[in-house]
Amino acid sequence: KTIDSLGELRGKRVLVRADLNVPLDGTTITDDGRIRAALPTLTRLVEAGARVAVISHLGRPKGAPEEKYSLRPVVGRLGELLGQEVAFATDTVGSSAQETVAALGDGQVAVLENLRFNAGETAKTDEERLAFARELAALGDAFVSDGFGVVHRKQASVYELATLLPAAAGELVLREVDSLRKVTDEPERPFVVVLGGAKIADKLGVIDALLGRADRILIGGGMAYTFQKALGHEVGLSLLDESKIDVVREYMERAKANGVELVLPVDTVVAPEFSADAPATVVGVDGIPADQEGMDIGPETAKLFGEKIADAATVFWNGPMGVFEFPAFAEGTKAVAEKLGAASGYTVVGGGDSAAAVRNLGFDETLFSHISTGGGASLELIEGKDLPGISILEEDQK
Ligand code: 3PG
Repeated sequence: KTIDSLGELRGKRVLVRADLNVPLDGTTITDDGRIRAALPTLTRLVEAGARVAVISHLGRPKGAPEEKYSLRPVVGRLGELLGQEVAFATDTVGSSAQETVAALGDGQVAVLENLRFNAGETAKTDEERLAFARELAALGDAFVSDGFGVVHRKQASVYELATLLPAAAGELVLREVDSLRKVTDEPERPFVVVLGGAKIADKLGVIDALLGRADRILIGGGMAYTFQKALGHEVGLSLLDESKIDVVREYMERAKANGVELVLPVDTVVAPEFSADAPATVVGVDGIPADQEGMDIGPETAKLFGEKIADAATVFWNGPMGVFEFPAFAEGTKAVAEKLGAASGYTVVGGGDSAAAVRNLGFDETLFSHISTGGGASLELIEGKDLPGISILEEDQK
């Protein structure tokens, strides 16, 4: 269901679930990509004369207010981007929210405080989530689900709320699903997947699903060291998930059996400590000293990955190749972004960190076919999992 299905919106109170979970350094937004991604829906609703209440989470507070997770810093930036003042309610469903929403005129926008300051948002039981969703629903006449980054979460504002009000998918959710399905549904070949990031546990499902579908899977970032260890290399102080070595070994065998090319780093940049000014050294994958840790893929690996990306017709990339936040260890991530940007095929950057890396390293976003706002959500979509926040919009609830 799309916004069109909601009918005339002038004067209607519309609750918009956005994902304004942006990275903050204190109260400074270090990447506003998710705020900008929310604009098409918000602008459309403003132009239609709706009274817009934006709801979102930020970080992972534990069901009670915590100043460092306040959405307040986001409000000013949203106002700048929208070109109009945005009101802020200091609670989510309490008196401040009720008064703020009641004071909205046609075409005006308010942001309500962090959903996760309320235990009901992420509660384990259906009843508790539904009770909180009812409080949210009392603030709106219609619901637009546009927080793509959370559609994989069965949470009150993502799932239950959609059962209580006339509900529709927003512009961002539609664009994300459309773009990611181009990767999942019969991608043009060669189909190349580049995976990185720190935690291998987060990526096992996607590797599992892609072993039968991708032509090549390139593995960099912190997760690569578990593969190196499975191959018998010492990894020094690098990130390692011992509990996943057997699974990884099984994946390597399955890749071979399925004719999927699994490409691992051939060299790595190491440092004696995790800091921006730690001295960097390039070593072969079998030469990581016991007292050093891997911080980035090495130049030979960057070249190899570049070659594997160059002739791809479809590329999906999730996860940085190294600690890109430190300039000395950003080269691998930069090289992959450059190759993806130059590729003529359909290129998708998935995930919070890789998207932030692309923008923070100064790449023009238009070089890529699609930059997803979803980390876990885009991975689960690629894995073929059911996403509660999407399926609830597809079912005919009311
Ligand atoms: C994200 O950052 O991937 C989304 O905002 C979802 O956040 P969560 O993993 O805390 O649910």
